[in-house]
Amino acid sequence: MLQGKKILLGVSGSIAAYKAATLVRLLVKEGADVKVVMTPSACDFITPLTLATLSKHEVPVTISDNQSWNNHVMLGRWADVMLIAPASANTLSKMANGACDNLLMATYLSATCPVLFAPAMDEDMWHHPATRNNISKLLSYGHRQLPVEKGELASGLFGEGRMAEPENIVKYLQEHFSGLTTQHIDQQQVGKTDLPLKGKKALVTAGPTQEPLDPVRYISNHSSGKMGIAIADELAAAGADVTLVLGPTGLSAGNPAVNTIRVVTAEDMFNGAAAHFTQADVIVMAAAVADYRPKHVADIKMKKGEGDALTLELEKTKDILRTLGATRTDKQVLVGFSLETNNEKEYALKKLREKNLDLVVMNSLNDKGAGFNHDTNKVTLFDKKGDARDLPLKSKLEVAQDIVTAIVDILHHNSVPLVV
Ligand code: CTP
Repeated sequence: MLQGKKILLGVSGSIAAYKAATLVRLLVKEGADVKVVMTPSACDFITPLTLATLSKHEVPVTISDNQSWNNHVMLGRWADVMLIAPASANTLSKMANGACDNLLMATYLSATCPVLFAPAMDEDMWHHPATRNNISKLLSYGHRQLPVEKGELASGLFGEGRMAEPENIVKYLQEHFSGLTTQHIDQQQVGKTDLPLKGKKALVTAGPTQEPLDPVRYISNHSSGKMGIAIADELAAAGADVTLVLGPTGLSAGNPAVNTIRVVTAEDMFNGAAAHFTQADVIVMAAAVADYRPKHVADIKMKKGEGDALTLELEKTKDILRTLGATRTDKQVLVGFSLETNNEKEYALKKLREKNLDLVVMNSLNDKGAGFNHDTNKVTLFDKKGDARDLPLKSKLEVAQDIVTAIVDILHHNSVPLVV
């Protein structure tokens, strides 16, 4: 898939720069022609010689070498895609603001091809409002951000901000070239002010809910909210004005333009979603809402009784999707999720029909790498025209991009009457 593709790799100063060697090797193995440009501080982490040997091209670092000028304009025009990996917080800031104080930045500003970037930094830097703003600006230029990964960081802390693994970057590039990501939408929009969802309002529910038993305990599930958050980010990147009603999770939307309403219980989530449902053009309910809650919530901590067992009386929560879906108009696009362990397709189609949906995203806990707490997901999209799209295992961000592509498609071409 990468045979003959010209990939310009920009390496900036981050400990993750050492992974550039593996990345170049994998890209070359896939048949790509790879040229590398480094920032001077990247050379503190990996030598130009290593990357030159692996890419079989010289690796320029400064605007001029040995009295000859490194032609950043030709480099920028040569590439089919420019990938900045790792993209440090400093380089992201320079890209967002057009600073041009090294060869990598001059090349970036000269690039006429699509630009992808794989951020790498410590978690607090990643969540800093300045970084969020820079990312938001870069997305508004039509660039694509590869998802950061969660894990051990150079600081010794554990969290978000690790550069995507080289294998995942290669997969992302393959999808980029096969047009499977929403990149093609963005590229059509480069230079235009109207993104595909500009002027549209979107509502997303995500994460688990917690249903209290007493001030100490609650009933909940394993949802991390990652999938729904990725969808909210992608809808915002496509130009929508997004409200995210988010259950209890430590994660946040990456795109600062997303308006997040944090809730705890299914009841709170219903109220948050109901307040924005009517105005929304696109609604995606990705939350793993508790179907039942304790009928009685104790004001003070429940003490162990004498017996060996405890029976809890539960009552049904409101089905947010079903209740609000019943009031939808045919101008709205309504998307639901279906996570099952058995009879997956049958149950997914039942939800599509009974909850009045345009699209149902089915995933199965039987698929490796799918479902709760993974950075990846494997889904099938069923629409109400009867079409099914089986997607391979991808990062949740890529799945979110496919879902947003499908939504844009429905919004622009959907003339199928509602199934009630
Ligand atoms: N949903 C919701 N409110 C609920 C329960 C589910 O909005 N109280 C939404 C989810 O966000 C998801 C879809 O409905 O989009 C899941 O459908 P559902 O039939 O509720 O799935 P399960 O609860 O997994 O199904 P069941 O309990 O019937 O196995």
